[in-house]
This record gives sequence, C-alpha cells and structure tokens, in this order.
Amino acid sequence: MLTHEKIETSNTLMIVLTLLAVIWGGLLEIVPLFFQKSTTTPVNELVKPYDALRLAGRDIYIREGCYNCHSQMIRPFRAETERYGHYSVAGEFVYDHPFQWGSKRTGPDLARVGGRYSDQWHRIHLLNPRDVVPESNMPAYYWLDRPLNDALIGKKMEALRKVGVPYSDKDVAEAPKAIEGKTEVEAVIAYLQGMGLALKQTR
Ligand code: HEC
Repeated sequence: MLTHEKIETSNTLMIVLTLLAVIWGGLLEIVPLFFQKSTTTPVNELVKPYDALRLAGRDIYIREGCYNCHSQMIRPFRAETERYGHYSVAGEFVYDHPFQWGSKRTGPDLARVGGRYSDQWHRIHLLNPRDVVPESNMPAYYWLDRPLNDALIGKKMEALRKVGVPYSDKDVAEAPKAIEGKTEVEAVIAYLQGMGLALKQTR
C-alpha cells in the first residue's frame, strides 16, 4: 500500500506524482478548449477575418511593439467593464493569429477602442500623442506617415488560411489592390477602428 507518509518522505515519488497531477490537470483544462464552440467559432456575425488594410495595420502594430504598452483583453470586473465596455470573450479572437491579449498596461486597454475616436484624432495621436493628450508618454510614431509597402499581403492571407481563417481566392487576389496608395498610419487606424465592435456596449 502506498501511504501518504511514503510519498511525503520520498523525493522521487513526490516529484513524479506531482508532475502526473499537474499534467493531468493541465490536460483536463486545456484540451477541451480546442473543441469548445465558444472558443473556436466567432461570437457573432460581426466577427470577420481582417480585410487586407486592417491585416497590414495589425502587422505594423506588432512590428512597432504597441503590445508592450497596450493589452487587448478586458477582464470581467466591474472596474474594467465600466471603463472599457463589455469584457472580452474568446469568440472575438478566432481570426487573431497570434492574439494580442497581453497584460501590460502602460497605456489603456485597446480591445474596444474601435469607434471611440475619429480617424483624424488617431492620425494626430499616432504621429505625436502630445498634440492631443499633453501628458501622454506614448512614443511619437511620426514615421508611420509613409507609403504602406506590404508586398507579402496576399501571401500572409494564404498563410492565415492554413490555420483556418476563411479567406477566399478573391480576397487573396485583390489584397494588393486593396492596400494600394495607402499609408502605414492609415492601415494602423483601420485596424484600431475595427477593434472590439462585435460586442461594443454603448454606455
Ligand atoms: C511606451 C508605452 C506605449 C507604447 C509603446 C504605445 N502606447 Fe499607445 N498609449 C500609451 C499611453 C500611456 C496612452 C494614454 C495617453 C494617450 O492617450 O496618449 C496611450 C494611448 C493610446 C490610444 C488611445 C486609447 C484610449 O482609449 O484613449 C491608442 C489608440 C494607442 N495608444 C495606440 C497605440 C498604438 C497603435 C501603438 C503602436 C504604434 C501604441 N499605442 C504604442 C502608451 C503607449
């Protein structure tokens, strides 16, 4: 008989059994998420794959490291939902590869920033935040006011298709045309303005 005392007085047994318990518990928690509808399907019909311009904007967001200061996940606490709107749910992010949830908040959460400001506000803010928020310590991204040069946009869509984002051949073929003549800052704004609209709460 394996008594408690035996386990607690044997390093090897303790380590092996702890590992087994953690692995088993982890599997029970993580594996169902791959199959649950609430995590694998869009929460509603407003959640759509990023169009070419927004996808390019999202890549610039990642390139510039915006995620170092901004999370995109509203937690289900009163203080958060009062400030930002409806808490985030997994079904809002099914087309995000990789997701940008994060937890570092030097700046505000951006999960529902879509529609909060005008395009013009974002433009001024991104190029020099202090022009609209004098006390801001967000860096000025003045270089974003340059042509958007994303020759790989179609290829990126094809890659995302491999992980389940339902882009059509037409989406892929028309992607370069859709971003033609745009600037980087326009792409980032398009991305920001689409953020979190699926469950936007008007307060
Ligand atoms: C060093 C930290 C830092 C980085 C990096 C950063 N931000 Fe910010 N951001 C802030 C802070 C602080 C604020 C709040 C003050 C303000 O509005 O400027 C803010 C505010 C914002 C807001 C307004 C949010 C709201 O609800 O009022 C947006 C939009 C935004 N940032 C987008 C971006 C984007 C896009 C990038 C990357 C290109 C970026 N930020 C990079 C710190 C940062």
